[in-house]
Amino acid sequence: MEKSFENALSNFKDKISDCIKSKKSISVITHIDCDGITSGSIITKALVRAGANCTVSTSMDFNKKVIEKLNDDQRDFHIITDLGGGFAKELDEKLSDNWLILDHHQIPQEELDNDRVINAWKFGIDGGKEISAGGMAYQAAKTMDGKNSDLAWIAVVSALGDRQDQGKKKSFTGINLEIVNDAKKTGLLEVDLDLSLVGRETRPLPDALAFTSQPFIEGLTWNRDACLSLLNSSGVNLKDGGRWRVPAELNEEEKRKVIESITKYTSGQNATQIMDELIGYTYTFPREDKRSFLRDGREFSTMLNSCGRIQKAGVGIAICMGDRTKMLIEGENILKEYRHMIRNYMNILASERWRTNDTTNCVMVNAEGVVPETMTGTISSLIAGSPKNAGKIVILRTNGEEGTIKFSSRKSFSCKSEVNLSNLMRTGAEKFDGVGGGHDAAAGARITKDKLDDFLDYLDKNVLNVQSSGNSEQHN
Ligand code: C5P
Repeated sequence: MEKSFENALSNFKDKISDCIKSKKSISVITHIDCDGITSGSIITKALVRAGANCTVSTSMDFNKKVIEKLNDDQRDFHIITDLGGGFAKELDEKLSDNWLILDHHQIPQEELDNDRVINAWKFGIDGGKEISAGGMAYQAAKTMDGKNSDLAWIAVVSALGDRQDQGKKKSFTGINLEIVNDAKKTGLLEVDLDLSLVGRETRPLPDALAFTSQPFIEGLTWNRDACLSLLNSSGVNLKDGGRWRVPAELNEEEKRKVIESITKYTSGQNATQIMDELIGYTYTFPREDKRSFLRDGREFSTMLNSCGRIQKAGVGIAICMGDRTKMLIEGENILKEYRHMIRNYMNILASERWRTNDTTNCVMVNAEGVVPETMTGTISSLIAGSPKNAGKIVILRTNGEEGTIKFSSRKSFSCKSEVNLSNLMRTGAEKFDGVGGGHDAAAGARITKDKLDDFLDYLDKNVLNVQSSGNSEQHN
């Protein structure tokens, strides 16, 4: 770990110790997505263990109003996780030095020197791939007390939620890899090279194969009947009594049979690439029940994302902090509701074709009146994951609270565009009195409705009409 990062974490520890000694109350405020829920939970758990008087809450995004709220709040000190990039000046003005940010989003140059901003990019760490906000919170928690290394598995969920498993065969790199190793040492995480199907612990085998879209297998993906017939012909028992078996239950011999059948099926398609993508690292929490949606790291992250997106982030926080009673049933119901909502929005967007403007390098989707603002990130990610959009940038918009328009942008798989979406969204939104930011490949923005045409014009100039090899960051 770089020295200056260590120093920043040690300052964090001192600040929190002072708060605890002087009986100051602490509020943790975090984002509603998986990385937000996990980072907020990790730091809150560490604070509770240290005997702090603290509370935790979530916010859909960060703006001046949120800072006003923090200012009006009775709490003495504020920890902001997975949020707050670009607001250091306002935070200093309103809260003096009674705040700290733990984050991994790209931040503007002028925030690099602010000691209260503990952000990965300041320390030469790629916050897009090497560490999540959960990872940042975990490093802070571990610095507070080595015993908090038993929270490493939650930081693995954070990184999975932010799709940072971008190394070879869906492995982690950088500090994320160190966190994985910490989690393995505690016995709370197992990492295997396995068939990488969605819903490893919960979906019936044919559904798991049909819903896996990376790799996209022509004829199988999104075609349950074809998957069922392929799996039947592989000779593997698909049921255990009356119950469908799930991918995690296959033994080595059965996996070999499934792989063999898929290989035969894909001959003629780019079979090597498909097989390469189909085998990847899986992250299992052995202490969770078999066939539970908490046992596979990727399913856990989906559940947390769904909690936040349907405005029940508290359920996710309770589960991360150890609640395995009523909250589990809540979590399961949330997951069902979330999947149902996604299917519904995707169907509407697909049938109302006027909503989509598809050019050679960008797909613009008008989801106004269809997708609620909390779900824009989920839907833009799904659209970017569709093979027909490979190589493109996806920008989706919908109407948000108080006369605003919320934008969510994603680079699709194999997108080579030099446009940095974080810069694009931040610079553009600020031009029109809005807020924006995020990562190179996933970013968002919010503007008021009266600025929509100007903002669309700006996107037109800076994305739609920019060739992937050219200098794309003109920000006119
Ligand atoms: O909202 P959406 O999921 O599209 O956001 C993509 C990424 O950009 C998320 O990590 C989110 O936290 C970040 N973001 C940001 N500032 C904004 C909007 C989004 O940092 N104003």
